[in-house]
Amino acid sequence: MLSSRIESLHILEAACWQELEKAATDPAHGWRLMTLATVQGDEADARSVVLREARRGPQELLFYSDARAAKVRQIGQQPKGTLVMWSKALSWQLRLRVAMTVATDGPDVASRWAQVRLTRSAADYLAGAAPGSELPSPLVPERAAREHFAVITARVLSIDWTELHVDGHRRAIFSADHATWAQP
Ligand SMILES: Cc1cc2nc3c(=O)[nH]c(=O)nc-3n(C[C@H](O)[C@H](O)[C@H](O)COP(=O)(O)O)c2cc1C
Repeated sequence: MLSSRIESLHILEAACWQELEKAATDPAHGWRLMTLATVQGDEADARSVVLREARRGPQELLFYSDARAAKVRQIGQQPKGTLVMWSKALSWQLRLRVAMTVATDGPDVASRWAQVRLTRSAADYLAGAAPGSELPSPLVPERAAREHFAVITARVLSIDWTELHVDGHRRAIFSADHATWAQP
């Protein structure tokens, strides 16, 4: 955790990525669980997702989903979305504008599934019915014959950082070619 307040935009942006990288491997990090907002027609949709990997070089965040989920359909129609996360320990909120792609096959997906299938969360991608399907009872239906595993890659287009602090809240906005402090 960072103890003193950062004064440099450049260092702050690097610190955001450092914390995202930590969050991807630390289940206790506040940013491990994010809210992913997508667009469905003329409506907004949002849900919780777990951060699986953060890649600072290409500015990408990775998530897993059932390939049949509404979010996957929505991303197919409109790849742009927003990720929101809060860390109480840092007292930092991030709002990330992202452009997303979904992969359901290829060597990267296969190697990730090879790891996930050995864990309890494999069941999340082996459900007999698609997410959101109506069920006659709360009982979970039989497993699907094959996995429905998808990897969502979110390329970060801009970072909107807010820090809550007793000495005054602060905000900074980073995009590809611009970085600035902003009124919170
Ligand atoms: C704590 C928590 C973590 C979750 N993590 C994920 C996740 O990593 N990926 C995912 O697809 N859904 C995850 N979910 C379920 C989603 O929030 C959502 O209910 C589900 O994916 C269906 O969303 P959709 O119909 O908008 O696609 C999580 C839910 C909770 C409560």
